[in-house]
Amino acid sequence: MKKVTAIYPGSFDPPTNGHLDLIERGSKIFDELVVAILRNSEKTPLFSLGERRRMLEELTSNFKNVSVDTFDGLTVDYAARVKASAVLRGIRALSDYEYELQMALMNRKLRPDLETVFMMPAEQYSYLSSRLVREVARLGGDISGLVPEIVEQRLKEKLDPAYKLSNRRVKAGRS
Ligand code: PNS
Repeated sequence: MKKVTAIYPGSFDPPTNGHLDLIERGSKIFDELVVAILRNSEKTPLFSLGERRRMLEELTSNFKNVSVDTFDGLTVDYAARVKASAVLRGIRALSDYEYELQMALMNRKLRPDLETVFMMPAEQYSYLSSRLVREVARLGGDISGLVPEIVEQRLKEKLDPAYKLSNRRVKAGRS
């Protein structure tokens, strides 16, 4: 039987529990799932491409059929390169729908045989976005439970250099 490969494209700046929830769901219905991080976004990211890639690789290492890659250019061209026949995207609330519909239909216009599959993350993540996580973390709010622990750690290190230093000291047995 033909194997179905899907790509899950996005910025993942940073990866959240909502992304992870969707990756887990996607890994159950597709034979292969490629988490594809967009390389040349117009936005200036908080985490470098390498940092995001490393975090996602660590977070998805227990899924045997999930890999992580980066891409630039059109999503449809990348999908063709990795022989994917589907694009996985998450829809949280109605507000996501219009943008996602536009994107899915544009992608269909560009490559009619590529299907977009929408999945809903668990409801506890329905308000969660990378943008809000960045903002709350930057302003010192509690983001535990919203992002995986390693992401929480990296966010603290990135936003508070003193945290990184004190953490290193603790690890080295100094106070
Ligand atoms: O996580 P995001 O930022 O919502 O992901 C958006 C992404 C990467 C899926 C979208 O910007 C994208 O596909 N960019 C690649 C360029 C492209 O194909 N543009 C036309 C899309 S209709």
